[in-house]
Amino acid sequence: MSVNNRAIVTRLLAHGLGLLPIAVALLLSTGAAAAQDSLANPHEGNAAAARAGRALFETRCAECHGADAKGISGPDLTVLWAAGRSDGRVFQTIRRGIAGSIMPSSTAPDDELWAIVSYLKSLGTVSPVEFATGDAEQGRQVFSANCAGCHRAGRSGGRLGPDLSRITLSRSRAGMIAAIRDPSAAMRVGYRTVTVVTADGQRIRGVKKAEDAFSIQLFDTGGRLQGYLKTDLSDVRDEAQSLMPSFPVDRLSDGDLDNLLRFLASVGEATNNP
Ligand code: HEC
Ligand code: HEC
Repeated sequence: MSVNNRAIVTRLLAHGLGLLPIAVALLLSTGAAAAQDSLANPHEGNAAAARAGRALFETRCAECHGADAKGISGPDLTVLWAAGRSDGRVFQTIRRGIAGSIMPSSTAPDDELWAIVSYLKSLGTVSPVEFATGDAEQGRQVFSANCAGCHRAGRSGGRLGPDLSRITLSRSRAGMIAAIRDPSAAMRVGYRTVTVVTADGQRIRGVKKAEDAFSIQLFDTGGRLQGYLKTDLSDVRDEAQSLMPSFPVDRLSDGDLDNLLRFLASVGEATNNP
């Protein structure tokens, strides 16, 4: 935020001193923003506030950030604290929006915004107790048989899906279970399904790594990173279905899932305390 403001100030100054009063006002608000970074959440640790925040989030934010906050057109918000954001900083981003993006500002009362902050923080701070049950060794076998073709956990594994070595450090147990049982409900940015059709009719499917007006990069299901100029393609199709198969109970029992989560948590702990 403050970086944005500074950029605006610089631009205004470049346009001449006639705009100086506005520039000064913006500088002052930049100072206020820095103060807000250290603001404390009056509802810190309050479970009722987090529940209220969840309801507000679902109506106001989920269309862009996903019902589980893992991101759709807006970024994953379950990793904010793991990425070093403070309560005050998140509050301020929600209040002001992000200039130059579709992230809107909000005029809702402070209490409502803090409730949303409480909810997001409850997603992002995972207690190791959440993954304390199950058998890691059995989980390792479940992982090798069902997941390792597409995911790494520790040193080895596939690359079509995200690296899961540290996933349990930033996802709640409920979030992990949802991602495994029903992957298409919210696909992670950088891993969304796309199919491109070349001018000569060849279809290539994979996860989209990057796209701009002229080109697209994807990691295809054959394990290759591919880049195309759009002029060489006859179609680019984004798909709602994840490339990850879903794992309902008849395919992965609750017991196996429990073991699997314990295994992933053990990998996460090992990478955290090498
Ligand atoms: C119309 C879509 C849209 C809506 C609605 C929306 N956001 Fe966003 N949000 C975005 C986008 C896009 C970004 C990334 C902007 C950028 O960095 O360029 C973003 C960024 C953010 C960030 C900053 C993430 C970071 O890494 O610091 C937070 C926090 C956030 N949104 C929270 C919310 C909350 C809470 C709500 C509901 C009150 C909300 N957003 C509603 C699209 C949206
Ligand atoms: C055929 C490839 C494939 C297989 C097999 C597969 N996944 Fe995935 N997985 C993906 C892809 C691609 C994504 C990213 C898109 C999405 O979020 O659905 C993903 C996403 C995930 C996520 C969400 C990650 C995040 O950051 O939110 C989790 C958790 C996950 N997989 C766990 C598993 C587990 C556990 C298994 C085995 C039981 C498994 N996957 C099997 C391809 C696969």
